[in-house]
Amino acid sequence: MQKITVQVGSDIAFVKYWGKKDKVLRLPINGSISMILDSLYSTTTVEFQSDLTKDELIIDGEQEEDEAVRVINHLDRIRSLAKEQKLIDRDLFASVVSKNNFPKSTGLSSSGSGFAALTIAACQSIGLNLSEKELSILARQGSGSACRCICGGFVEWLDGDTSEQSYSQTFAESNSFVIKDLVAIVSEEKKFLSSTEGHDLAETSLFFKARQEKIGVKLAMVKKAVLQKDFITLGELVEAEALEFHSILLTSQPNMLLLYPGTVEVMQTVRLLRRTGVPVYFTINTGFNIHVLTLPKYEKKVLETLQNLSSVKRIIISGVGEKPKLLQDHLF
Ligand code: PMV
Repeated sequence: MQKITVQVGSDIAFVKYWGKKDKVLRLPINGSISMILDSLYSTTTVEFQSDLTKDELIIDGEQEEDEAVRVINHLDRIRSLAKEQKLIDRDLFASVVSKNNFPKSTGLSSSGSGFAALTIAACQSIGLNLSEKELSILARQGSGSACRCICGGFVEWLDGDTSEQSYSQTFAESNSFVIKDLVAIVSEEKKFLSSTEGHDLAETSLFFKARQEKIGVKLAMVKKAVLQKDFITLGELVEAEALEFHSILLTSQPNMLLLYPGTVEVMQTVRLLRRTGVPVYFTINTGFNIHVLTLPKYEKKVLETLQNLSSVKRIIISGVGEKPKLLQDHLF
């Protein structure tokens, strides 16, 4: 069995995945669109070893306990596939070391890049030769958004009614549209809501049905704006989507108020900056850290403005990321 190391970019959803039609298979109620990021990534080394009696996991330098069951369940899926293909004839356990170069569990989708990296590295280590589509389907079962992180550039995840129909694909390459994402870190605390718990509450919001009625049109408009490199239309749609998504969180039962004062300060600042003619928009997931999107020409101005806010601890500047990369330098 080989030792394999993979680096995978996290992503930011332009149209959010929120709510599942199948919890076990992680089939989403609606499709979603995202941009892969080149400066926020997970690096994971996996090696299946014949002398291990259980899986050993270290994530960001710690023996992982919170995520252990989910990671081991995912390794079980990969072991089952390997058994089906007669690559192994008994349970074989893995050493997994993974690290994120950005704060995890703060709303920056570390589970997406993490499970995508785990999927690719574990499959290669055990000898499974899967297509991008097959890897996406498999990664989705570990963490929904991981199915997008298998791809590069601008990505669409098809909702699908069966496991085989629900996977992601690149619809615009990473170099086709240059967008800058300034990720404003307002806190590195662990968020108090996991997305897995939140998804289950989506349908309790009285706005959820209204969201679903319009989501197909929204997906088509966002895709068109990316393909036409129409940043203003894209930004307007993406910011409105982030607020719509938070209106679902605010009206779920129980409701979820996830924004920190610093998050709102960034939102207001983005809007003030826009009034001065700068094309800049925000979007946000289930955390308090916030993505600020602009064009390269305005990156410096946006950076200086955000750096002046006392609530912004640091800023990670990202461009559009490519497909996952295999690395020769292993983590162990
Ligand atoms: O893949 P999960 O279960 O971490 O859910 C991700 C949910 C959002 O980040 C809020 C939206 C998205 O599409 O990434």
